[in-house]
Amino acid sequence: MVQVAVLGYGTVGSGVVEVIEKNKDMVNKKAGQELNVKYILDLKDFPGDPYESKVIHDFDQIVNDDDVAIVCETMGGVGVAYQFTKALLEKGKSVCTSNKELVAKHGPELLQTAKAHHCNYLFEASVGGGIPIIRPLNYSLTAERIEAINGILNGTTNYILTKMEKEGADFDSVLKEAQEKGYAERNPEADVEGHDACRKIAILSSLMTGMNVDSEKIYTEGITKVTAADFVYAKAAGKSIKLLARSKALGEEEVLAMVAPFMLDKEHPLAMVNDVFNAVFVTGNMLGDSMYYGRGAGKLPTASAVVSDVVDCARHLGKVIMCFWEEKDAKLADLDNVESRYFLRAKASARAAVEAAFDCEEVLTVPGRTEDFAVFTKPVKERDFAAKCEELGSAVESRIRLF
Ligand code: HSE
Repeated sequence: MVQVAVLGYGTVGSGVVEVIEKNKDMVNKKAGQELNVKYILDLKDFPGDPYESKVIHDFDQIVNDDDVAIVCETMGGVGVAYQFTKALLEKGKSVCTSNKELVAKHGPELLQTAKAHHCNYLFEASVGGGIPIIRPLNYSLTAERIEAINGILNGTTNYILTKMEKEGADFDSVLKEAQEKGYAERNPEADVEGHDACRKIAILSSLMTGMNVDSEKIYTEGITKVTAADFVYAKAAGKSIKLLARSKALGEEEVLAMVAPFMLDKEHPLAMVNDVFNAVFVTGNMLGDSMYYGRGAGKLPTASAVVSDVVDCARHLGKVIMCFWEEKDAKLADLDNVESRYFLRAKASARAAVEAAFDCEEVLTVPGRTEDFAVFTKPVKERDFAAKCEELGSAVESRIRLF
């Protein structure tokens, strides 16, 4: 029997206990032995909960219990969660986590600690919720040189953009409704400003390059400036707007990573990923494109991924599962020097100035709209595009990169 502890009995933590219990026959068979949740650590008590008797408040009880071999960290945050994870790994206990913030910030260090103590730090649930993507990158695509990863990695923003597209609604009203329904956090900043997707693409980029991609250095733009009018033009052009987290390998040590809204053709597989679903589109140099799709958040999907890591740890007790993520920082390309194609929507009165400023592939007008028009530019250096937009001033209503 393998003894397991769960740190944090919130949405994901309680889901972990539920998955281990509900699927116990399958899970135990696949783990090769029985998994038993011995402790649940939380600040609160849970009177009436079926696992009430397992709830404890003292972390030392777990870290000092030699029987506990695997711990699920579902607390979140980078303070206490980091200290607990480090202490557990130093004691040779494997840790499975859904904590993307901690993995993005301290991933290589914690992997090193695990390796030094013959245990594992696994984080399948940290990106794409229940979608298997960490294990495919680590185990399955090992014959590939991964050239690019493009993902829809945040369910909240994908839900908002899908609603805006389908209902013609504006950002603020959809966000409000999503908050009322509990789909969006009361403080939605990490999601709508792109920080959550940024941490996730930092993790995927690190696995792609084998080096550390620092999330704090990734250019990140959220969806708060996307408007209902942008969707009118996108629809007219047969396109959709998605918040994409992108990473492209430029040679051995350099990577171009960013998070921003993109306009993409409706036929692209990523354009078909709607509502709270996530997808990761991976391009390898031999396989070509492959896509991993599913529920990127939620109690049971995320818990399922954590438990899959627990099973992996149980199968590898005392053995280190290889993960290529060194502490050395990858070089991040300077976005200013990169060429992008843009959708630019501007006031109708500025048409001559806009057409003079940019080399345009197409000029778009929508019947019935007299106040604005839009263009699709040819590739233009980010720095030059920004400078020209600055010159055009308030004539520019919005700008979104083309995928
Ligand atoms: N807030 C995240 C999302 C949860 O909306 O995707 C999963 O990481």
